[in-house]
Amino acid sequence: MSTTTSPTDHAGRIPAYLSGFARPSGTLEPRASLDSDAPVISLNGTWRFHLSPTIAAAPEGFWSPDFDDAEWAGLPVPSSWPMHGHGNPAYTNVVFPFPVDPPHVPTENPTGDHRYTFTVPASWSGQRVVLRFDGVDSCGRVWLNGAELGVTQGSRLAAEFDVTDHLRAGASNVLAVRVHQWSSGSYLEDQDMWWLPGIFRDVTLRQRPAGGIDDIFVHADYDHRTGSGTLRITGADDAKLTVPELGLVDVPAQQTHHIAAVRPWTPETPALYAATVSTAAETVSLRIGFRTVAIIDGILTVNGRRIQLHGVNRHEFHPDLGRVVPLDVVRAELELMKSHHINAIRTSHYPPHPAVLDLCDELGLFVVDECDVETHGFHLIDWRGNPSDDPQWTDAYLDRMARMVERDKNHPSIIMWSLGNEAGTGANLAAMADWARGRDNSRPIHYEGDRDCAYVDVYSRMYANHAESESIGRGEDPDEHRRALPFILCEYAHAMGNGPGGLTEYQRIFETYPRCQGGFIWEWIDHGIRRRTPEGREYYAYGGDFGEPVHDSNFIIDGLVFPDRTPSPGLVELAAVYAPVRITAGGSGTIAITNRYTYRDLSHVRFDWRLAVEGDPIAQGTLTVGALEAGASAETPLPVLPQALQAETWLTVTAVSEVDEPGLPAGVPLGVGQICVRPAVPRQRAEPTRGGKPNANPLANAAVRSANKGFIELGPAVFEPTRGELIRLGDIPVHGPTLDVWRAPIDNDRYGHRPLENSWRELGLHRMTHRLVDLGTDGDTLTVIVRTAPAGNDLAMLTTWRWTASESAAHVSIDCVPEGDWIVPLPRAGTRLILPGSLDSVRWFGGGPGEAYADSRSAVTIDAHSATVDEMQTPYVYPQENGNRTGVRWAELRGRDGAGLRISGDPTIEFTARRWSTEDLDAAAHTSDLTARDSIFVNIDYAQHGLGSAACGPGPLPAYVLEARPFTLAFTLEHL
Ligand code: GAL
Repeated sequence: MSTTTSPTDHAGRIPAYLSGFARPSGTLEPRASLDSDAPVISLNGTWRFHLSPTIAAAPEGFWSPDFDDAEWAGLPVPSSWPMHGHGNPAYTNVVFPFPVDPPHVPTENPTGDHRYTFTVPASWSGQRVVLRFDGVDSCGRVWLNGAELGVTQGSRLAAEFDVTDHLRAGASNVLAVRVHQWSSGSYLEDQDMWWLPGIFRDVTLRQRPAGGIDDIFVHADYDHRTGSGTLRITGADDAKLTVPELGLVDVPAQQTHHIAAVRPWTPETPALYAATVSTAAETVSLRIGFRTVAIIDGILTVNGRRIQLHGVNRHEFHPDLGRVVPLDVVRAELELMKSHHINAIRTSHYPPHPAVLDLCDELGLFVVDECDVETHGFHLIDWRGNPSDDPQWTDAYLDRMARMVERDKNHPSIIMWSLGNEAGTGANLAAMADWARGRDNSRPIHYEGDRDCAYVDVYSRMYANHAESESIGRGEDPDEHRRALPFILCEYAHAMGNGPGGLTEYQRIFETYPRCQGGFIWEWIDHGIRRRTPEGREYYAYGGDFGEPVHDSNFIIDGLVFPDRTPSPGLVELAAVYAPVRITAGGSGTIAITNRYTYRDLSHVRFDWRLAVEGDPIAQGTLTVGALEAGASAETPLPVLPQALQAETWLTVTAVSEVDEPGLPAGVPLGVGQICVRPAVPRQRAEPTRGGKPNANPLANAAVRSANKGFIELGPAVFEPTRGELIRLGDIPVHGPTLDVWRAPIDNDRYGHRPLENSWRELGLHRMTHRLVDLGTDGDTLTVIVRTAPAGNDLAMLTTWRWTASESAAHVSIDCVPEGDWIVPLPRAGTRLILPGSLDSVRWFGGGPGEAYADSRSAVTIDAHSATVDEMQTPYVYPQENGNRTGVRWAELRGRDGAGLRISGDPTIEFTARRWSTEDLDAAAHTSDLTARDSIFVNIDYAQHGLGSAACGPGPLPAYVLEARPFTLAFTLEHL
């Protein structure tokens, strides 16, 4: 039995609905996502599935209940079908992977036919029932029991159909959905992510009782001056409201209820009140949060206080499932955000699964809910034909805005509506803003593309550099209208690969200028797809790994967490920058503590201190600080310290939460500060005298001797004379140290407007050769002069190595002078030393435990740390420079027998140890390309070029640019 009305597909033609300017058909009016006691049946499960390369090739009549699908595959729903072996994922950032021919899409249009057979209880007979899809990418034509219901559009938005007339209660039903990868809607869904078609969110059948509650709008405001709340629920005329905790029982929901004292909802104290709204036929359960969003004197406030957005851009992504993210994974990821002091999410660039918003209400996260609109690909054709300004698309834009606002309007966590992302400008966007204001005037409107702020309420930018952000903060924007609006960075600090750098400096701007109200890091997660090599090694795939003819490579790997949601060093750094408690050295022997919360005092915080001499703890205790109010600072005396501290000593103070809160278990660090209470005594250095000879030096008690085969011996060190390099230290065979300026380029070196990597490779910095200029001995000093230079150029680095030694240690002081006209910064300035592979256990005193770079080192503490060489690697999905330990005073590398080598900085070094060379790391395209060698490659460095954000945004700030200038690096190698 088939009652379908559109047989056009079977003539091989493209059905009109695919080119219909992205308007759904047959769907019901949008409404809030509600938790109702009316019966619901989930249609999630294993469906039957068949993929066709074109519509013409798709099976005729598959929607008929009688159709034989026995040969079809099983497919979980919800799913992104390419993640289950049907077709492939494809990644593009901006470019459309099909011709720009709006509203048409290619005939080559992967089409997934889905069928599901289910029964509903006989008790459902005579009830009104709707069928709800929470997300179908990109367009689904729907039949129930052979009757066509309509067509969905707007992938990340809900669509409901009335199935009352077609559902068979007490009997078997067949739901058939034909999903097309491409539709006219695809022109509005050009977000920077994998193209992943499928029914990727829940499918449900919902009874809609007569006299029930189809939709409500909760208005719950908070008056910060009085502490009172007002509550009014519109949309369900005769409904009764009950909020037990507020003493409201069966009161008329429509009326305004004044509550003398409520606990407001804030992200720091997400107070929610359980409530029900009932009619005789249906009860809806709610969690109500009282809060008021207002722009006051150009400042965005919530509950009367200026807020600072410590945000991330969150896409919905799972490395095995694509756009399907199980709820337990979402909860864990939002808890991870909370424990890293993130307080806001921009739902880049579409409304999330509705349950995400429930969790944001519960855990306390501000949300900028963004509509499913991005037309970025039109940018590549100078915005010709951009739907945003074409009246033929107005309905589609309004439809999307209405569906987002209606679905999500009851969430206290949502503080702004965003029209979409990178869709140019145009009347359709302005119309969306108008519509939203008319429907909900309690939330400001955001859209970054409206640079003139003609139809938005906040001035939003992406990747504005520090200087520009600061000048906006100072009120130097020439545009008067814009100058009066809050300034938000909807994207900043591009977290691609190793980075971002410069977070502390952005944070300073947010704390200095009231108008600069923070922003959202781009982005939360690396969208790497888990794969295995034929040998079974796991790696994460990115653009191009699925043979896509058009792709944007690893630009999809730009998150603060790896694809499996383990934190990257970027997230650890961010947590330190966003930490709500700041601990620094105060005046005259005190510790300064600042409460950086917006809403709460510090009565839940304990301050632990620990005193350690070269990392060995000698005393610890707890400070008394008291309940410091939000925004307040105080100084507290240092604990009484032992008198005679013999070596470098640090006091570390850690603020920890003492209470268990949603997403923030007791014990979570809320801020760490360190105060150096006894600096290191400078080593007596082998300073060269004017004549080039070192001064008297306690280390220099060994004389230079010639040994077999012309080798040179100096204490435990043996040198090879033609290169002047160390080949042995005691019984440890070594190679180097040699001058080395190369690093495996990080993404911020590789991408951006003028990638540094190109200049570096043109110069040949990745293949420098060495020439021994001179090697001379003078009593207790071996002096080696080496010229290190790239082929085909007259640029060079001239290094003078002055070696002295004691019986067990060799000390070197290296003076490096660049020769020629260096017009680019160096990747790195340092040395490379190759050690036996057995020395793979590292203990060091200096910055740690994690990696750190010049412009990303807020998260490390100066302490004794230990790790294996393997643990010191950061597995960036696209391999690149990683693992640097900063400010290292000394590092010991030992083998199983405890013997090894100690490297002591004079005074400090930057230190990296890995099982592969920089060249190996540079050549690798996936983590599985890296294979351990028999050696440990150690970099003992003076400095590295900063990380910055240049892949998409500013490069390192001037202070972190590693200019080619003379430098001195000195260290001691000691046999252990
Ligand atoms: C922005 C865009 C994001 C992402 C980012 C680069 O322009 O809004 O979606 O593409 O660039 O990673």
